Amino acid sequence: MAKRISLSRAARLVGVKRGVLQQQIRAGELQTFEGEIVLSDLLHAYPDAQIEDSSMLERVEQIIEQATFINPDSIARKPDNVALTARIMSLSENLSRQKRLLDRYQRFTDELRAEINRLEAQPDALQQLGSWVDQATSRISTDDDTIDQPFVNETFLRVMSAQATVIPSGHEFFVEGAESILEAGLRGGLALNYGCSNGNCGLCKIRVVSGETRRIKHHDYALTEAEKGIGYVLGCCNTAISDVVLEADEAQSTKDIPMQNIPIRIKKIDHPDADVLIVSTRTPRTSRLRFLAGQRATLSIDQVGSGFYPIASCPCDDMNLQFHIGLDKRDPVANYLDESAKANDLLTLEGPVGSFVLNENSSNPLVFIAEGIGFASIKGLIEHAMALDVAEKIFLFWIADSDDSHYLNNLCRAWNDALDNFEYVPLDAEAGEHPGDSILEQLQQDDPTGFDYYLCSGDKIRAGVEQFFDTQAIPKQQVMYETL
Ligand code: FES
Repeated sequence: MAKRISLSRAARLVGVKRGVLQQQIRAGELQTFEGEIVLSDLLHAYPDAQIEDSSMLERVEQIIEQATFINPDSIARKPDNVALTARIMSLSENLSRQKRLLDRYQRFTDELRAEINRLEAQPDALQQLGSWVDQATSRISTDDDTIDQPFVNETFLRVMSAQATVIPSGHEFFVEGAESILEAGLRGGLALNYGCSNGNCGLCKIRVVSGETRRIKHHDYALTEAEKGIGYVLGCCNTAISDVVLEADEAQSTKDIPMQNIPIRIKKIDHPDADVLIVSTRTPRTSRLRFLAGQRATLSIDQVGSGFYPIASCPCDDMNLQFHIGLDKRDPVANYLDESAKANDLLTLEGPVGSFVLNENSSNPLVFIAEGIGFASIKGLIEHAMALDVAEKIFLFWIADSDDSHYLNNLCRAWNDALDNFEYVPLDAEAGEHPGDSILEQLQQDDPTGFDYYLCSGDKIRAGVEQFFDTQAIPKQQVMYETL
């Protein structure tokens, strides 16, 4: 039977986003069978996909940094990461050769059966069969040393990362090296339930429906025998060692996420332009912030005051939280951060709050529109959409006072250059550029009613964009607003 692989794995194998494959499936260039792609069809569409591709190597390098599995019995004899990678590659190649040999024997058996049938009635059947077998076996043992590179690539990635599918949502993510299922799920943009990340609270309990997991960390939380019997494990203390199907709790909406109070430390403060601060912070490992991209939080500083700011990062970014804060003399927190704060200072975070979040039930392509520092909330949403990797296309229209006020222009340009399905359009308010006209120009022949829209702006821009939505008859449920 032809070998099939999931869409997520296929995208990784050939180094494109899932959205690109989805587009090709819709255009009839690739076929799916029960949601999977036949490996040979994929390689036919991407004949140049090789493990030697630099994109593949880059990913592999990230993976091998974590690839040394901690076996409690042999901690002292851990293999070097590079050696481990080479061994896996060599085993994959060997496996490929054995598979080819096996295929040839399979063919031989079929042909032998046909030959016996053909010779049955002939007087010298045994003699003829003997010489046929001699010729056929010499063909089998021909020293064909070629390897099936796509098979090698696929086997290699399968060893280096396990694919996890969550039910009932159907979300997918990859568990790389020896990272925990929880870490991998969060990195993949999933809003999994968890608490301490450290084996104490039990909130990350998941049921392994199929596949194999292995404990990588001791935990104090005790699962009952009944729970263990039906396959429960702690996501923060286990990794996947084969492709797995997991039953897990995911936040369905902002209501499923509790209010939290967390001390966070400043990592650094950047001044990308005269009016904006970018404050990068980090939560403690054992109390990360559970939130959905696009939400906000209150930051408080002892004896200074508090401010309410959008979280400009995605929950997939581990313990890192970023805030973009407009400099305003009336905001004591902004002034303190600008003039007095330094790395390692403590802030108190209370949150998350807000419902400006991605509609994960929609698979529509996405249009994001930001005005000025409204980019903060939009940035979190874009990063989340990228981590989930379900949107076929993503457009970002960022309108700012002047052409040089897009304070993270380089980041947006880098996304634009690196991602096939991402378009960035900076707009200059001073020059009279407007998101509505630009959206129509960029969408070209695509129907604007087929997109989901996320807008974070002041009232004036919002009024103009709303007019555009009315004219284009964009369904109300496909538009999300956040006011600056
Ligand atoms: S998150 Fe607390 S035990 Fe896993």
